[in-house]
Amino acid sequence: MTAQILDGKAVANERLLKLADKVAERRKQGLRPPCLAVLLVGSDPASVVYVNNKKIACEKASFDSRSYELAASTTEEELLQLIDELNAAPDVDGILVQLPLPAHINSQSVIERIQPDKDVDGFHPYNVGRLAVKMPLIRPCTPKGVMTLLETYGVELRGKKVVIVGASNIVGRPQALEMLLAGATVTVCHRFTVNLEHEVSEADVVVVGVGKPKLIQGSWIKPGAVVVDVGINRLADGTLCGDVDFEAAKERASMITPVPGGVGPMTIATLLENTFYAATLHDQPAA
Ligand code: GUN
Repeated sequence: MTAQILDGKAVANERLLKLADKVAERRKQGLRPPCLAVLLVGSDPASVVYVNNKKIACEKASFDSRSYELAASTTEEELLQLIDELNAAPDVDGILVQLPLPAHINSQSVIERIQPDKDVDGFHPYNVGRLAVKMPLIRPCTPKGVMTLLETYGVELRGKKVVIVGASNIVGRPQALEMLLAGATVTVCHRFTVNLEHEVSEADVVVVGVGKPKLIQGSWIKPGAVVVDVGINRLADGTLCGDVDFEAAKERASMITPVPGGVGPMTIATLLENTFYAATLHDQPAA
């Protein structure tokens, strides 16, 4: 059996076009397009690519975007001051600070400075906490994008055994909360997990986000399982690969995400959906 490809690129594109329709509807009602402010500190090559992809998505969805490209020497105080200005700007709906930040800046302080109603990454403890208590508002983009992709392909999660590999704030932890909310039985594996192969081999659905090329071997996958690979790693020869050995895993899985073209585009589409939602929070009632 060769797995069906979960085509995140195609699903994300459809969702961006739907957003463009919704922006046109807003305009008819006299409402402005949603506006996303994208902040990049320094010039980490991968971050430059991600930030550009976010700007391109804004154009596709007819959103406004504002771009702030700051020197790597920018101080934490300067960055926090810019966030304060954007928090106060009535025409900015979402603030995205691309991670990782240079080592002299405390990422958590930056995340917590963004007003929760403009935190379109969904990283603020307020938004993560809302998800934890089953009352989500703005949800972390990658885990929500994974849920949207699985739902689009009709993957049933209620009662299923879901194994998440990686316990990061951006992927693993909020992914576990999303899966719990969907009624799955959830296991989270991390660097201290004793037998990773055993845990993975029992999963109906595996979500991997650790940043280690081909950590998950194809032979570990339970026949018929659904495999979601959040990893994106650049190999020495310049090619990209995920955290799962795709070629081997696709022979056992029933469905699998490719890298690139799987979860990455879904993260960006979700970021824009979050920004659209944030804009509705900021709409002024008619006078
Ligand atoms: N760096 C890697 N993934 C992300 C993400 O989803 N949001 C932000 N802001 N930075 C990231």
